[in-house]
Parts: sequence; structure tokens; C-alpha cells
Amino acid sequence: MAVKRCFLWTVVAMASSASARNNSYFVRDRDLNPVFSENIVAKILQVAQPALSLEAPLRTYPESVPQTGPNAGKYEYREANFWTCGFLPGSIYALLERAIKFPRSLSVPDQHRPHFVKDGLEIGRHWSVAINQMSGRTDTHDMGFIVQPALQKDWELTGNEESFQSIVRAAHALASRWNPTVNAIRSWNTAVNNRYNITDMSTNFLVIIDSMCNLDLLYWVGHSQNNQTLIEIATTHAHTVRTSNLRFDSSSYHVANFDPRTGDVKAKFTSQGYRDNSTWTRGQAWSIMGFAQTYTWTKDPVLLETAIKCAEYFLKRLEEREGKHHHPFVPAWDFDAPSADPAEPLRDVSAGVIAANGMLIIHQALQGFSRRIDGAFNTTTDFLDAALRIVDETLDMALDRDFASFVPGSSQGDEGPFPVRASGFDAILRHATANNNEDARKRYWDHGLVYADYYLLEFGNKLLRMGLV
Ligand SMILES: *[C@@H]1O[C@H](CO)[C@@H](O)[C@H](O)[C@H]1NC(C)=O
Ligand SMILES: *[C@@H]1O[C@H](CO)[C@@H](O)[C@H](O)[C@H]1NC(C)=O
Ligand SMILES: *[C@@H]1O[C@H](CO)[C@@H](O)[C@H](O)[C@H]1NC(C)=O
Ligand SMILES: *[C@@H]1O[C@H](CO)[C@@H](O)[C@H](O)[C@H]1NC(C)=O
Ligand SMILES: *[C@@H]1O[C@H](CO)[C@@H](O)[C@H](O)[C@H]1NC(C)=O
Repeated sequence: MAVKRCFLWTVVAMASSASARNNSYFVRDRDLNPVFSENIVAKILQVAQPALSLEAPLRTYPESVPQTGPNAGKYEYREANFWTCGFLPGSIYALLERAIKFPRSLSVPDQHRPHFVKDGLEIGRHWSVAINQMSGRTDTHDMGFIVQPALQKDWELTGNEESFQSIVRAAHALASRWNPTVNAIRSWNTAVNNRYNITDMSTNFLVIIDSMCNLDLLYWVGHSQNNQTLIEIATTHAHTVRTSNLRFDSSSYHVANFDPRTGDVKAKFTSQGYRDNSTWTRGQAWSIMGFAQTYTWTKDPVLLETAIKCAEYFLKRLEEREGKHHHPFVPAWDFDAPSADPAEPLRDVSAGVIAANGMLIIHQALQGFSRRIDGAFNTTTDFLDAALRIVDETLDMALDRDFASFVPGSSQGDEGPFPVRASGFDAILRHATANNNEDARKRYWDHGLVYADYYLLEFGNKLLRMGLV
């Protein structure tokens, strides 16, 4: 009898917490509730929804949110062809992935659940028109960043053929930048700042560490279209970057400049970091995620080992900060940059969340091996723990606390299908740094950043796909 009463009590307690929709998102005691909160949905909608009143293709896309000055709290927009255009649409599709595949994790008031996918898709498709139109671009290597966050998800979630064709087109456009002498895809056509002016494409061939994260597109299309050329280009590029942009300790150079006539490296330097020989934190984060992604396609142990070493370098540099300033796992913008106030170094939260995404991929890859130490992968690092700590500290330090929400009881918004009570700060996270290089022509730091938010949402979605939340 006593046992039965106890059992009933448990059932009632569980039922009542479920009806309150308190899905507690804890992983290994780290509180990830903010990644799945109503605020996340409402903030993306507060930026995305007003564009429904503008005619597509949209001409400008949000990039960064100043924390001070006359435009504090409001997204600054860049021309549509800037490389970050895919991330706000990608954030809409990250919410759609939750709504379609993990509806338990979509935090919206009950009356908006039945129409969320239909109306959310309308917003996502509106933001995708310009992306579809630019999918054949050969003037940039950023085609993965541009088309994958929104268009690949649109294809995966809805089977939209137009999106699929754009992704295929984008992969071939990226492959057109391949050079068989250099064994790499050209990243930038030119590099111009106040210190150097590299514009002659016949004598310069610029390859940046960021390029590692555009290879996933080539593998995906290569396999789905049975085109071995795309796959070989991606793998060869990865091995070239491994030797040209990484140092012996697996830290990274931002830029390697090759002579396209000989394939020799002429110079290694930085564009967005502190110094040519420093390690720009976001570049290191791209290397972790990029090499981890290439491993998942190739199963080449050298590429996983490279990702692991890049990640361990990243973590070593974070651990050095332990006890020196608060939130040591929210990375400084460049691991080697001096700080006027050593207790308050300038951060880049985007680097942290990108690295955390890469570490989740490494963690999953390692689950397939029964022994690490004697195998190809000599590591005892717990990459899941590390990733969770980065995101936990990031939320604690950088989550903007002026939360957006749905207007209670209201069924229709002023600016679109969802009634949102806007936050005074458009981005989810603060304290990103896009480019603090002293010679940069546009230098800006300590702001919200569209891809910091996108990779935070994607981190949450990876945890959902892994079944961890
Ligand atoms: C959900 O439940 C947990 C555990 O009872 C509690 O700590 C947390 O504050 C609750 N969160 C919300 C959003 O109600
Ligand atoms: C495979 O992709 C390459 C690179 O874009 C292209 O040149 C080639 O025509 C494609 N092959 C086929 C069979 O479509
Ligand atoms: C860079 O070099 C090109 C070609 O020599 C020249 O047209 C351009 O004005 C230069 N730009 C800067 C900022 O020096
Ligand atoms: C970079 O080079 C400068 C000048 O040679 C040196 O003082 C500095 O310690 C180096 N930094 C790193 C991170 O190696
Ligand atoms: C693994 O790493 C440790 C520490 O870096 C090193 O001492 C050891 O020799 C390595 N083992 C193998 C098999 O590479």
C-alpha cells in the first residue's frame, strides 16, 4: 500500500511538471535551458519577421549588434552578398528543425504550436530568396556558409527541390575555385588592409583557415550526386590546409598565400587576428569544426587526429586563463593578444560556440572507438565536457538578459504571424568580436554577432540530434 501511494505520487509529480512544459535542459549538470527558451524563438522572430513587409529578394542581411553608441541593440545590416547572409535564415531553420523533428523542445505558447511550421517556413523561405539567387556565385569561397544553414535544412526538412538545386549549384561554384597546382580552393581573391594590398590573382592564391568549414558542402553534394571530383577536391584541400595553415603545435595561421604557378607557400600571416604569428581564436575554432567535419565524411584518422589536436590546443589556451579572469572558457578574441585590463580581456563568444560545435562532432566520432590511447587517437580529453563548459560559461557571461517573449494571449503579431514583445537587444549573445585587427579597414569588437547566435542554436540542435536533451 505504502509502495503504491509513493508510485502514484511520483506519477502525479511528473505529470504536473510536464504540463507546465518545464523541460529542464541539463546535460552533465550544466544548465542549457537558455538555449531552448522562448527568448531564443522570440529574438529570432523579432529580427526575421519584420522583413515580411519588404519585397524579396532582401537587399541586406543582419550581421552585428553594437552594445554602445546611437544604434546600440539594433542589428547593423550588410549587403546581401556579404558572407554572413546565410546565418539569420539558418537560425530560422534551426527553429524549424526543432518544430518539425523535436517539437517538445520548441518553447512557444500553446496557441502558436499548430501554425508554427507553416508560418515559420514562410519567413524562412522569404529570407532564402536572395540566397537561392546567389547560389551560383564563383566570386567567393563562402558557399557552404551561405547556402547550408538555410537551404540544406529546407531540403532536408521539406524536400524543396529548388533548395536542393541551389546547393548542388553552390558546390560546383565552389569547386570552380580549385587549383590543381596548389591543391586547394582559392579562398579570397584579394586581401587588402592598411598594411598590405594583395590583389594580383596571377601571383597570389590566398587560403584561409575558415575554408575548412566550406568543405562539408562539397562532400554532401559529391556523395548525393555521385561526383567523386567534388569529394577529392574537398579532401585534398583539407590536407593542404593541414600543412599550410597549421603550426607544429596545431595552432593556426589565418592566411597562407601560395604562388599559384608553383604551388609554393609564399607567406603566412593574419588578416583578422592580432599578429601574423599569433593564434586568432575564431580561426582555431574553424579548424576544429572543419577538420572534425571532414573526418565524418572521409573516416580518415589523420583528419580526426588533426581536429583533436586543434581542439586540445584551444582548450590548453583556455585553461591557461583559469584563475586569471572570470569565465576563462569564454575565449579571448586572439589567444596571444595583450589586454589593457588583464582581468577583463576582450572576448569572442562566436569562437567559443563554434569550437564547442566542433568538439561535439569529435566527441561523437570517438564513441566508435573502444580504445583511444593505443589507437590513432592519443587523447584522454572529454570533449563533451569541454564543449558544455564553454557554452555554460558563455551563457552565464554573455546571454543578453533583456529577454524577448511572445505577447501573452495574443494570436497575431503586428509585423507578421507571431506576436513578439521585442527585446532592446536584437542578438541572443553579447561579447563577440568580428574583427579587431589593427590594420583592418572595418574594425569592430564587443558586439552581438549573427553567427554567434546561429552556432548557439545549432549547438542546441546537435544535442537534440544526439539525444542528450
Ligand atoms: C524547471 O525545473 C527545474 C527543476 O525543478 C527548476 O530548477 C527550474 O527553475 C525550472 N525552470 C523553469 C523555466 O521553470
Ligand atoms: C563533377 O564535378 C566537377 C566539379 O564541379 C565537374 O567539373 C564535373 O562535370 C562533375 N561531373 C559530373 C559527372 O557531373
Ligand atoms: C591596391 O592595389 C591596387 C592595384 O595596384 C590599386 O588599384 C589599389 O588602389 C590599391 N589599394 C590600396 C588600398 O592601396
Ligand atoms: C611573435 O613574434 C614576435 C616578434 O618576433 C614575438 O615577440 C612574439 O612572442 C611572437 N608571438 C608568438 C605567439 O609566437
Ligand atoms: C600520447 O600522448 C602522451 C602525452 O602527450 C605521450 O607521452 C605519449 O607518448 C603518446 N602516446 C602515443 C602512442 O603516441
